[in-house]
Amino acid sequence: LLRLPLLPHPRTPPEEYRGHLAPEVSVVVPTRNEQHNVEPLLRRLERALRGQTGEVIFVDDSDDGTPDAIARAGSALALPVRVHHRPAGARHGGLGGAVSEGIALCAAPYAVVIDGDLQHPPETIPTLLATAVRDDADLVIASRYVTGGSASGLSGTTRQLVSSSSNLLCRLAFPRRLRGVSDVMSGFFLVRVAAVDRRGLRPDGYKILLELLATAAGPLRVREVGYVFAARHAGDSNVSVGEGVRFARRLFALRVPRAARFALVGASGTVPNLLGTAALHRLGLHYLAAAIIATQIAIAWNFAGCELLVWDRQNGSRLRRYPPFAMVNNLDLVIRLPLLALLVGRWGLGVGVATLLSLAVAVLVRYLVVDRLIYR
Ligand code: GDD
Ligand code: MN
Repeated sequence: LLRLPLLPHPRTPPEEYRGHLAPEVSVVVPTRNEQHNVEPLLRRLERALRGQTGEVIFVDDSDDGTPDAIARAGSALALPVRVHHRPAGARHGGLGGAVSEGIALCAAPYAVVIDGDLQHPPETIPTLLATAVRDDADLVIASRYVTGGSASGLSGTTRQLVSSSSNLLCRLAFPRRLRGVSDVMSGFFLVRVAAVDRRGLRPDGYKILLELLATAAGPLRVREVGYVFAARHAGDSNVSVGEGVRFARRLFALRVPRAARFALVGASGTVPNLLGTAALHRLGLHYLAAAIIATQIAIAWNFAGCELLVWDRQNGSRLRRYPPFAMVNNLDLVIRLPLLALLVGRWGLGVGVATLLSLAVAVLVRYLVVDRLIYR
């Protein structure tokens, strides 16, 4: 039997736990359509947690009978079980969002995050806990890539390749923060709740573990424990190309500061602007009209870039943000149109070269105005 140190509880246990001891471990299970898996999972969880007081919190984004299956299986257990069901339209951040909402709900000082499809063996939880206590760790990651671990349940070579290359990418992006972390993609870990800023954990980010490690205020004391990633018990995996894209965006945002992302997106707008102007001109449009239209295309491009990569995680209406964004960016034309008229109309320069020059001059003028008038 493992004796846990007395740690403060991050939250008072909910009313419905009356009659139960305050939990020492909160188990957070994200679920999306796992109706045939929750019953065996709960049975194994209860057995694994024997000797500890615990709670299980499902954060459920299902459209099938998962909430009912949880209620049915949960009522047969001594372990308190809660479901936080998120209806369609409130499923912020997908899997990562679900996990961060779950961590925010924990009443115990330790939270264990585990998948709902039995690919993560609940029997490893006591080892996670024992390691946390023995080494006074903030984070204990169940890893497929250390001794005792195996990724054999990861179906298909493509998935294995995607998983190991994202793992490598993350470790290259954060060599210091991820030192000693072999399985950045793991969705199975224990975290000391007080070690994470739960309000800072925004409900977004597919890979919550990377989020925890990359945004922690100080260095976390991390340990790893090997486990065998099993094949799925029932149903199908929910991962998609969309999740992969979301992950890549998040990694980019965590790694590159916002101002640099803004500069990159802005510079990339040169491409649609140049190509658009040249193409429209070739189609017979006057070069000034071509420049105006291509600039609108470039502005739309930049807007998309800003929404997806610079100020990501924005709520509210994009439609409302677009007009002021376009207005500010059209100011360039005040400089560029007369200049184009001069370069092309007077001096007979090619439209492509003139467009590039005018874009460069617009940046330079903006720099000079700011430098001379604002930072005199
Ligand atoms: N609430 C919620 N919302 N849960 C979700 C969502 C969602 O949008 N998408 C998936 N889940 C749940 C699933 O029901 C399952 O319990 C768990 O999250 C993992 O999802 P799977 O669909 O089984 O993904 P996987 O098996 O392909 O991914 C596993 O491998 C990755 C590493 O390769 C997971 O263990 C990941 O956590 C792990 O990082
Ligand atoms: Mn799975």
